[in-house]
Amino acid sequence: MPDSHVLIIREFLAADGDFVSGSELAELIGVSRVSVWSYMEKLKAQGFDFEAVRSKGYRLTKVPEELNQALIQSRLQHAAEHFRAIVLDEVDSTNSEAERLIANGEEAPFVVISRLQTIGRGRLGRIWHSPQNGNLYASFGFRPQISPTQMSLFTLWMGINICECINSICRVNCQVKWPNDLHIEGKKVAGILTEARMEADQVLSAVLGLGLNVNSDGSDWPAELKEIATSLRQSAGQSFDINKLVSAITGRIAIAYKQLADGSHRAALKERWPIYDTLAGKKISLIQGENRISGIARGIDTSGALVVEKEDGARFLARAGEVTIEK
Ligand code: BTN
Repeated sequence: MPDSHVLIIREFLAADGDFVSGSELAELIGVSRVSVWSYMEKLKAQGFDFEAVRSKGYRLTKVPEELNQALIQSRLQHAAEHFRAIVLDEVDSTNSEAERLIANGEEAPFVVISRLQTIGRGRLGRIWHSPQNGNLYASFGFRPQISPTQMSLFTLWMGINICECINSICRVNCQVKWPNDLHIEGKKVAGILTEARMEADQVLSAVLGLGLNVNSDGSDWPAELKEIATSLRQSAGQSFDINKLVSAITGRIAIAYKQLADGSHRAALKERWPIYDTLAGKKISLIQGENRISGIARGIDTSGALVVEKEDGARFLARAGEVTIEK
């Protein structure tokens, strides 16, 4: 059963700007009409605002711009209604927090979001710069009923679904740069870090961490980052409602997760990958430890490995590595 604030906000969102009477709200959360007032005051303290008219009730006039747990949770419905949203002011890393929650028995799936991270991490032990600047740091926790072989496509499948969601909301052309980056017009807008705990032939838990540059204008980025990174705001020329965006992405991830569990993602990924593959047909260099392989990127195979066509025409399958697009 969602908490009372979530029920109230859901009711206002469903009313779509119309009035909701105090008695309806009282019945909804099982309290007296007089007590409804104190719930409204608590919501006001979080950045919501309401117009109150004696004969009509309350009308929602403002939602918080800052990340808000009740607002995000109230928008999680349908496939995502079982996702619990947890919003923190500060954390070392949302991936680490998600792993701790899973280890402590938190029911999955859930999403943990933080306004800032003190030790945000990226792939290959890199740091993920995570100040409080309107960007998104989120980790989705699962206890998937899938085999380790199904996990190999997990990040790619979630990546194209996140791109589709972003594109439809922000009107940008977000694509996946194999294996875990999201790019817009050649610049990185997001990174995904998937971490899983496996046992023999079973995945015990999986955490998908998403660092998405949303409303940062890039002024606080280090110089080397400015060259290669972008934000949705920079690419689309406008800011975005982060609460709406994270709710929509979570809804999309919930659907994608169901498809992963029932196996229908395989055909969908095969069909949609070419649309979202930022490397397709490009001359690339792939670094794997000490080795460097050059060639043309030719999509992915059924396991998610990158197909690289070398100069001699031979095909190399890359399961890991760092890709650079050659000019
Ligand atoms: C990469 O591009 O190397 C992946 C970056 C992933 C960053 C996100 S931010 C939310 C989550 N928490 C972390 O510590 N990392 C991921």
